[in-house]
Amino acid sequence: MQKTIKPLTKLKITSTLIISVIIFASCVSSQLGKNDSGEFKNGMVVTAHPEASKVGIEILKKGGNAVDAAVAVQFALAVVYPNAGNIGGGGFMVYRSAKGEVNALDFREKASAAASRDMYLDAAGNPIVDKSLYGHLAAGVPGSVAGMVEAHQKYGKLSWKQVLQPAIDLAEKGFEITKRQASELNGLHRRLMDVNINGTALVNLESTWQEKSLLVQTELANTLKLIQQKGKAGFYEGAVADSIVAEMQRGNGLITKQDLKNYRAVWRKPIVGNYRDYKIITMPPTSSGGIALIQLLQSVEPYPLKRWGHNADSTVQVVVEAERRVYADRATHLGDPDFYKVPQNTLLNINYNKKRMTDFNWASATPSNQILAGVTKGKESEETTHFSIVDHDGNAVSITTTLNGSYGSLVVVKGGGFLLNNEMDDFSVKPGAPNMYGLVGGEANAIAPNKRMLSSMTPTIVEKDGKLFMVVGTPGGSTIITSVFQTIINVIDFDMNMQSAVAAKKFHHQWLPDEVYIEKDAIDSLSTEKLKAKGYKLVYRGPIGRVDAILKTKLGTLQAGADPRGDDTAIGY
Ligand code: DON
Repeated sequence: MQKTIKPLTKLKITSTLIISVIIFASCVSSQLGKNDSGEFKNGMVVTAHPEASKVGIEILKKGGNAVDAAVAVQFALAVVYPNAGNIGGGGFMVYRSAKGEVNALDFREKASAAASRDMYLDAAGNPIVDKSLYGHLAAGVPGSVAGMVEAHQKYGKLSWKQVLQPAIDLAEKGFEITKRQASELNGLHRRLMDVNINGTALVNLESTWQEKSLLVQTELANTLKLIQQKGKAGFYEGAVADSIVAEMQRGNGLITKQDLKNYRAVWRKPIVGNYRDYKIITMPPTSSGGIALIQLLQSVEPYPLKRWGHNADSTVQVVVEAERRVYADRATHLGDPDFYKVPQNTLLNINYNKKRMTDFNWASATPSNQILAGVTKGKESEETTHFSIVDHDGNAVSITTTLNGSYGSLVVVKGGGFLLNNEMDDFSVKPGAPNMYGLVGGEANAIAPNKRMLSSMTPTIVEKDGKLFMVVGTPGGSTIITSVFQTIINVIDFDMNMQSAVAAKKFHHQWLPDEVYIEKDAIDSLSTEKLKAKGYKLVYRGPIGRVDAILKTKLGTLQAGADPRGDDTAIGY
């Protein structure tokens, strides 16, 4: 019924299309709706986990729209993909209706009212290692449940009960974990035990986890039932809120009943910008993603990327120099718009971005310390999740959601059965001090009571000629913005199909540290040598991004890109 689409190279586009046809042909229970090219026209769901994709497509088949499917998928991911899917975290949604109405929902976590600017610093004013990353104090007030209630109330068609039921069933009856999940959970065994002394369903005491082991989460099922019965109050008030607060008291966390009751998801005006003949609809602050994405696109637009070629040295050089400048802006100018006046109009002005590129010099890399001061080292962690959905009518949803690090703070709420986020680390805990992604920040993103921490999540929808063209997003911390950017130019400038654009090897620069991270084989040896000779420090690293995307073809069919870097799965009908 579903299939993870495997990695591709550019040269394999034709065979990929054929393979996709076979995959999809073998996936569908019914051939209805499938056209001759083997792409699907009724609906498409692409998520990080096969079980969540199944949930989404079943909701679409029952007559639900893209928002119904998205809500069902968000809750299903909280069960089947606990490293990032969540009810104890937050995220962002970009929506485009079939008629072209666009909207953006901010359900990012907030700092507790008791949070304070220096809460992660020692007496000498230095950040205390891991204090913003692990345990109860790392958690922000969760936003996902409020976000889903808000999205469903505004756009949903099926009942709230219907969209919650699949997640409840998965938690209550259990589901078979993937090989990758078995290995992750075994690797985390000790740390999960240390943080959760009373045990959790994620820890298997009798034996180690294996592929296809059944994961049953009874406490989580009960929490989901309360949310199903009572909506927002089922999570932010009553028994679940009591468990969260009791958990905070056990671990010296800050979240109170009042914090929970006060939490609101916020509709925001999407960022809309142009790139060549395309319109980009993306997430405004509290995420930095949308502004940075438009800045990157505006910075590279004057250059003939297509003529140079995908990941050719000139392409890489221009992209890296654009990234260096845009991430420097991110560190200085971006934060929660309810607390800090983000200079959005300037940052989105095409002349500003073109001007930023004028000190770029073909002969050598611009040192980052000439753009702005400071040096820092980043760490890798890849555990957020993105999903893309298009329904029969052409409504589209792009959601990125996270606990921040893998399994968030590792704290499972006793009695509630769900993990709490460690999103507080996305604040700038001290000006110039790097967070877990090596990102630095200042005043704009300083901690304050009830403030949202800055994000890089970039759920995006692209339009061409007034019609839906692409739905795209990815996890990857600081690499999110550059992965979404590269996926878009892979399609627009390098003529890749959706799966090839997603699978293509990626690279990343974020101003500081002054290094270009690259996936193995992303750049050929000749281009690599040329870039090194110009002073670019190339650092090989593991996978960059886990993009899940959908492309609407000229024929009106839907083409999927499910990232082969994970268990990501596309299902169409
Ligand atoms: O909001 C952010 O930018 C981060 N908390 C996202 C974390 C992430 O993407 C982790 N891994 N994939």
